[in-house]
Amino acid sequence: MTRHFLEIDDLTADELGNVLDLSEQPIDGLPKVLAGKGVAVLFEKPSARTRNSVEMAVVQLGGHPVTIRGEEVSLDVRESTEDVTRTLAGYHSAIAARVFEHSKLERMAAVSSVPIVNLLSDQTHPIQALADLLTIRQAFGGLSGRTLAYVGDGNNMARALANAAPIVGMKMRIASPDGYELRGTDAELVSDPVAAVAGADLVYTDVWTSMGQEDEAAARSRAFAGFIVDDALMSHAAPGAIFLHCLPAHREQEVATSVIDGPRSRVWQQAENRMHSTRGLLAFLLSHS
Ligand code: CP
Ligand code: NVA
Repeated sequence: MTRHFLEIDDLTADELGNVLDLSEQPIDGLPKVLAGKGVAVLFEKPSARTRNSVEMAVVQLGGHPVTIRGEEVSLDVRESTEDVTRTLAGYHSAIAARVFEHSKLERMAAVSSVPIVNLLSDQTHPIQALADLLTIRQAFGGLSGRTLAYVGDGNNMARALANAAPIVGMKMRIASPDGYELRGTDAELVSDPVAAVAGADLVYTDVWTSMGQEDEAAARSRAFAGFIVDDALMSHAAPGAIFLHCLPAHREQEVATSVIDGPRSRVWQQAENRMHSTRGLLAFLLSHS
């Protein structure tokens, strides 16, 4: 059966633990599941971390990444998403894609003979959540029983984390301004950032304006005033709490410079973990497909 990774709950709790274990295995000890094989890495939006971490993870597993800019294939304009997928599946052992509409990933998965991996959609960013779980596990020695406070937009990042939390036994509280809440989640929603952060083990934020929403930037800046993660807000978290951000970050907007560059921040470890967790994920998917 071809296994896809469109959302974090495409993995069971045991499989997720297995992927995180694989992510921490020394590269030399991993089977080179991609030896002589390719992975298509398609981007409809910009990327620094995702492109580089996926390409390097593929190389570390013995494979060859072929990165494709969205405009080179123009999904549903030059040809259908399905026809691009069938074509790429003939050359590659997996197709990883960053798209605007999540439905494109579902359409890819419906026709693909090789794993489809979500590299971010308007709906969710599970490959980032995987790196975040690895970072949290490394900081605390485990995930179960930890409380994650997410301060900001109820966006793709919030959804990926909210879907991940119950699988690993974490509690999640989300503070968002009116009109920017995450819909359809079991996470606890609050409007006061202090209520979200109080006693939390980790505090997470993301940009106020995601890729593709640039026209809304001014209105969002006004709506999100008061939702900056600064030292005053961090002082309500548990002693030993850490700060995470998927990046790119905007200092003095969603996060104070003193927090992201301060002693509680784990953002560079988190960014590096994108490569390790993607390697673990690909090793898992390729040996189970
Ligand atoms: N966090 C993340 O996905 O970063 P990029 O957009 O730079 O890939
Ligand atoms: N929410 C952000 C995440 C970037 C990694 C976006 O979609 O632009």
